Amino acid sequence: MRYQQINNTLFQKNRYHFVSKMKPNTIAILTSNDVKHNNADDVMGFTQNNDLFYLSGIDQEETLLVLYPDAHKKENKAILFIKETNEQIKIWDGEKLTKQQATAISGIDRVEWVQDFEMLLQYMAFEADGFYLGHNEHAKRVTKDQKTQQDRMIQWCKTKYPLHTFYRASKITRALRQVKSDEEIALIQKAADISVDSFKRVLNACKPNIKEYELEAELTYNLIKSGATRHAFKPIVASGKNACALHYNTNDAVCKDGDMILLDFGVCYANYNSDTTRCFPVNGTFSKRQKEVYSAVLHCLKEGSKLLKPGVLPADYETKMATLVEAQLIQLGLLDAKAVANQDPEKPLYKQYFMHGTAHHIGLDVHDVGLYSRTMEPGMVFTCEPGIYIPEEGIGCRLENDYLITENGPINLTAAMPIEIEEIEALMKNNK
Ligand code: GLY
Ligand code: MN
Ligand code: MN
Repeated sequence: MRYQQINNTLFQKNRYHFVSKMKPNTIAILTSNDVKHNNADDVMGFTQNNDLFYLSGIDQEETLLVLYPDAHKKENKAILFIKETNEQIKIWDGEKLTKQQATAISGIDRVEWVQDFEMLLQYMAFEADGFYLGHNEHAKRVTKDQKTQQDRMIQWCKTKYPLHTFYRASKITRALRQVKSDEEIALIQKAADISVDSFKRVLNACKPNIKEYELEAELTYNLIKSGATRHAFKPIVASGKNACALHYNTNDAVCKDGDMILLDFGVCYANYNSDTTRCFPVNGTFSKRQKEVYSAVLHCLKEGSKLLKPGVLPADYETKMATLVEAQLIQLGLLDAKAVANQDPEKPLYKQYFMHGTAHHIGLDVHDVGLYSRTMEPGMVFTCEPGIYIPEEGIGCRLENDYLITENGPINLTAAMPIEIEEIEALMKNNK
């Protein structure tokens, strides 16, 4: 693996917390993700299912985890199923995990080959009253129709064991994964540290007429060289008005002298992610207007991030952040104070220039699992990412850091990434 092996006490603790929330006499089955194919014999690569990773640390395809805490036989309490290798796989793909390696990574003593799963489960199934199964429960993306291994496992299990009771494993993992342990925070910090160096490399390379994708290449070079697994998401390198399209990522335009670039990127290290946004002038010097807009967003970031405290409801935080941005939009002459005072609260005027939320959980997923009806707690990690987008001026500005919530105020895990106007101009001053 590219990353330093994680101490398996993390996964043992995670399993301990998970099984303590299961109903009596139930079995949990967690699946890995599919290797996704694109064309011919090519594949898009593999990204582990994050609930399986959280509970086992196994980063290999065709893995299953079975947890049966009330099993009367001790050896059935936790079983990891992994892919059995063979000569063909060795010749073409190289080594796969041995059972001993899988035990060392996960801390699970009993490891079996995945082809034995159905038979071994059957020995336990009728002792149990129900199953916990995984499913992607993200508000913005729910899969169905056998699209994922999870979907297929749900269908298979419900067909084979129709009279058992079924429960949602992700309801438990979502509750647990929101609050990060020290080990997880250290991994997010590592991702953040790689992102700081990567950003500096981009600043160093930037000059008029460079292509957006050339800056993307600087990021990619640095993060792969630093041991990151991949980009946390396809990076956004958006110059000029491209920055006003929130998820722009074609990154194929020429960066013009006088424009500002919005760079929103994340680093995935050991499956943990950072997510940061910075803006900087193509030619190394902010124009007067760029400075005004940038300073307004930076003010919102500095003030808004102070609101990330235990006990705060995310929705209340978002309302306060919107008020901060609204005041800046008035100062920038984009909104009229009287019109704002008389606006329809259902259709606030600021949404014309600021149309997204400004805090999401981050961890194993970039938009990490977590319910926004739960108040903030120490150990949660949130982004803070206010923005102002003015297409008619060709300026889009967002600034984003990652904050750990603590009893003593938020800790900025991305504090080392340059953000002050003077810092950025100084770092770009020798660019040719
Ligand atoms: N890059 C996606 C986000 O900032 O949430
Ligand atoms: Mn981002
Ligand atoms: Mn974000």
